[in-house]
Amino acid sequence: MQDQLAELAWREGRIPVSTRFDDPYFSLQSGLEETRHVFLSGNGLPERLRPGFRIAELGFGTGLNLLATAAIVTEGPVFYTSFEAFPMAPDDMARALAAFPELDASELIAAWARGARQFSLGALEVDIIVGDARQTLPEWQGRADAWYLDGFSPAKNPELWSEALMAQVGAHTAAGGTFATYTAAGHVRRALSQAGFAVTRSPGYGRKRHMSRGVMA
Ligand SMILES: C[S@@+](CC[C@H](N)C(=O)[O-])C[C@H]1O[C@@H](n2cnc3c(N)ncnc32)[C@H](O)[C@@H]1O
Repeated sequence: MQDQLAELAWREGRIPVSTRFDDPYFSLQSGLEETRHVFLSGNGLPERLRPGFRIAELGFGTGLNLLATAAIVTEGPVFYTSFEAFPMAPDDMARALAAFPELDASELIAAWARGARQFSLGALEVDIIVGDARQTLPEWQGRADAWYLDGFSPAKNPELWSEALMAQVGAHTAAGGTFATYTAAGHVRRALSQAGFAVTRSPGYGRKRHMSRGVMA
């Protein structure tokens, strides 16, 4: 079956906005700084990285989080699995990532354009699982040491933050594993607590007062 591609509009000519979800893919202020603050620092990275470390992500989008991670991994293999229902067209991905000249996107874009969904990127072993995460995550055989929960906002993309899906995130987390997300929405935090995480609130990026992070007991 043909993938259902992402449908985009562009804000200021450079920030991709999903017309399906009516939400931007990354912070209008600085996508890369937000990624570093929320997903990397929020999961204790790069300090916790070691060969064999496993990262998983809900919402692959432009691949920005992947590239920001590739930039801090020095010793591999580190495994990066991401779940995405609406993959971006390669030209859109290239246009989105052009906003971050400090990241080298060429290898990712080349792999994406040839249709690869499992590929190496420096020390990372990447696996993009295409499909609705509500179906694909329960079937996933892996476990993550760190989760990036990066759906569109819970108000606009509630299916990626449901109690059932957060339970699946918990079930696919190694002991001592962590999650980080930009949202501090109460129902998401409660679902993640119920999934077994000790959830804390910490300062968010930019105009967002709070973000959430947690450790699996
Ligand atoms: C905020 S964007 C992710 C940004 C991305 N992490 C990046 O680095 O560019 C949210 C992503 O979640 C995806 N998504 C939304 N609902 C989904 C679902 N039910 N299953 C899997 N992916 C979904 C969207 O297509 C979109 O790519």
